[in-house]
Amino acid sequence: MSIHYHEEEAVFHLQASNTSYVIGITKQGYLAHYYWGRKIRGASWKRQLLLTNRSSFTPSTDLSQMELSLDTLPQEYPSYGSSDFRTPALEAQHGNGSSITELTYVSHRIIAGKPELEGLPAVYVESADEAQTLEITMRDAVTAVEVLLTYTVFESYNAITRSAKIINNGSEAVKLNRALSVSVDLPGDQYEMLQLSGAWARERYVHKRGLVPGMQMIESRRGSSSHVQNPFIALLENGSTEETGEVYGISLVYSGSFMAGVEVDPFHTARVFAGINAFDFEWRLEPGEQFQTPEAVLVHSHEGLGGMSRSYHDLYRTRLCRGAFRDEVRPILINNWEATYFNFTADKIEAIARAGQELGIELFVLDDGWFGKRDDDTTSLGDWFVDRNKLPRGLEDLVGRVKASGMQFGLWFEPEMISPDSELYREHPDWCLHVEGRRRTQARQQLILDLSRKDVQDHLVAVISDVLSSAPITYVKWDMNRNMTEIGSALLPAERQRETAHRYMLGLYEVLERITSAFPHILFESCSGGGGRFDPGMLYYMPQTWTSDNTDAVCRLKIQYGTSIVYPVSSMGSHVSAVPNHQVERVTSLDTRGNVALSGNFGYELDLTTFTPEEKELARKQIALYKEVRPLVQQGDFYRLLSPFEGNDTAWMFVSKNRSEAFIFYATVLQEPNAPLGKFRLQGLDPQRDYVLQGEAAEVEEQSVFGGDELMYAGLAKPQFHGDFSSRVYYFRTAK
Ligand code: DGJ
Repeated sequence: MSIHYHEEEAVFHLQASNTSYVIGITKQGYLAHYYWGRKIRGASWKRQLLLTNRSSFTPSTDLSQMELSLDTLPQEYPSYGSSDFRTPALEAQHGNGSSITELTYVSHRIIAGKPELEGLPAVYVESADEAQTLEITMRDAVTAVEVLLTYTVFESYNAITRSAKIINNGSEAVKLNRALSVSVDLPGDQYEMLQLSGAWARERYVHKRGLVPGMQMIESRRGSSSHVQNPFIALLENGSTEETGEVYGISLVYSGSFMAGVEVDPFHTARVFAGINAFDFEWRLEPGEQFQTPEAVLVHSHEGLGGMSRSYHDLYRTRLCRGAFRDEVRPILINNWEATYFNFTADKIEAIARAGQELGIELFVLDDGWFGKRDDDTTSLGDWFVDRNKLPRGLEDLVGRVKASGMQFGLWFEPEMISPDSELYREHPDWCLHVEGRRRTQARQQLILDLSRKDVQDHLVAVISDVLSSAPITYVKWDMNRNMTEIGSALLPAERQRETAHRYMLGLYEVLERITSAFPHILFESCSGGGGRFDPGMLYYMPQTWTSDNTDAVCRLKIQYGTSIVYPVSSMGSHVSAVPNHQVERVTSLDTRGNVALSGNFGYELDLTTFTPEEKELARKQIALYKEVRPLVQQGDFYRLLSPFEGNDTAWMFVSKNRSEAFIFYATVLQEPNAPLGKFRLQGLDPQRDYVLQGEAAEVEEQSVFGGDELMYAGLAKPQFHGDFSSRVYYFRTAK
């Protein structure tokens, strides 16, 4: 890791563990992008900047260097108004009403470590020697508006983080219409753009499209990162695979409305960008005020998409997630949601918890319905006190009973919401997001608390803290079940109403910071109707997320595969649920439901008291196996082998960091008649070592010792299944 400034060339060379990123200052003072890619020792960097004289439609701002045009110069933080016709990173409206900003270099500094982003989640370091940071100040000479660009490179992680701070050093107020986190101009357009898109219950499906001239973009306008689009895109060099080729990833550490995309210009260069969605966004900066953008995390891989994913996994698992549970293996849980929905008693809960404990489960989670008068989803959000009709002896008594059965206790909240039918709403009808005189559109019969308000933030911290202090609770599921409409705040003036959505996010982050740091012994899992806010912003506060409300094992193949493109397996909740499945009514075997769920933070979400002795025996085996492979699954290296988006078979595997253990998952969706034989190749093993197959799979294979080279180069025979939705797991350990 290092950041060098080559003064004679006016070039910054940033080197992450495997990546170089190079920025130059042109003689006009523009900040030019020279290179982002595989690590290079050094070069005469000016050769990397290709310029040529073009027609009058490509104007130059310097008559003495006509080949330099802002319209073709690869730039680091482009702005609008002075001849760059491509999409800008910054669009500011000044006191005179104009939107022209022309940024030039002022100064820079290189510092050890990585400064925090005030009020925003971000990748962090534990000691200053883990990273170096470059800060470059640019200024618009006419208005004195400044932009501080921040770049961090890491010693042991193959990633570069970027963010921008806009500072109004002028004498008049400035309105930001767009302030993105990152913009990079790549020299060609021979890429596919990968995005993770979907909907509720089918989140983060992998989609790829070849770049075409013009704009290709994803965005969320929902006030949260959303089920529909994930704040991430990658550019895949044409012809690249899981293991080969150049891949550029951009992941945004933000949980609100965002935009990310690529614009291909007439000269076939690709401008890739990401940040807060400029749609319905505005931020007013009075003289002296600043605006900090969220952070973007850039990963370049020359080892295909898989290499990119593993870089994100390592960084996010250990330098984005925080807290006592970051490096701990996560508990196996049983959640009562799909077992009882709102209809439970203390006795029923205790019975499910006891049944779980007998199988080896470690944590019971009480889901929705324990508070206010909540017998269905129409009431009580905001009334965070126990429902004595359902739990007459209170929460403490129930927690005591569950703990007496040998289980930890976890609790569900949906803190950001307010039901119109609640004591809280009757007392504070102006505490929700709303616009005076307009309908308050409900979703799931609920409204959203206005977390941009300090009084609402304080109230939420107080009531949630009271519940968490009232009993020995060790886990919280933090749910959020709708998107924003009528986004307005009763406390903001008219000219700041379009700040509400981002102020909401800042308020939410503040609340999360206060609650998670006050209860460091609690494992927080975020949820938004499953994976509606599965983003790096949330992972900073809560190290795991409920991946999807869809618990069907077949649907989960795509959902978990897609999620793994960016997010570490330790961040994905995956549970065994009942059949017919409650979302799609599919019937799959307990074996396959278990095998799929083993590839995540494992748990069950059904009524264990109804299990037959055979089902109990199988669940006991699944739980015992998970306890063996858990460190490997949660902290090992993850390799995708066969994609559910490309065929009938899915396979992936986990390898321990020292390559002494591997756990492989293989599934076939539909049974083919007279099926062909075939092999699939493993990855990440040590070719010099022998691996011994453990457990029942060894009996099926009729052999137990395999060379690492054999498994990776020749492959393992695809299992021959009978029946649809079949799967197998293989656990290998190196021979002693
Ligand atoms: C949506 C969540 O994703 C579910 O797991 C469950 O907690 C329900 N909300 C409860 O209302």
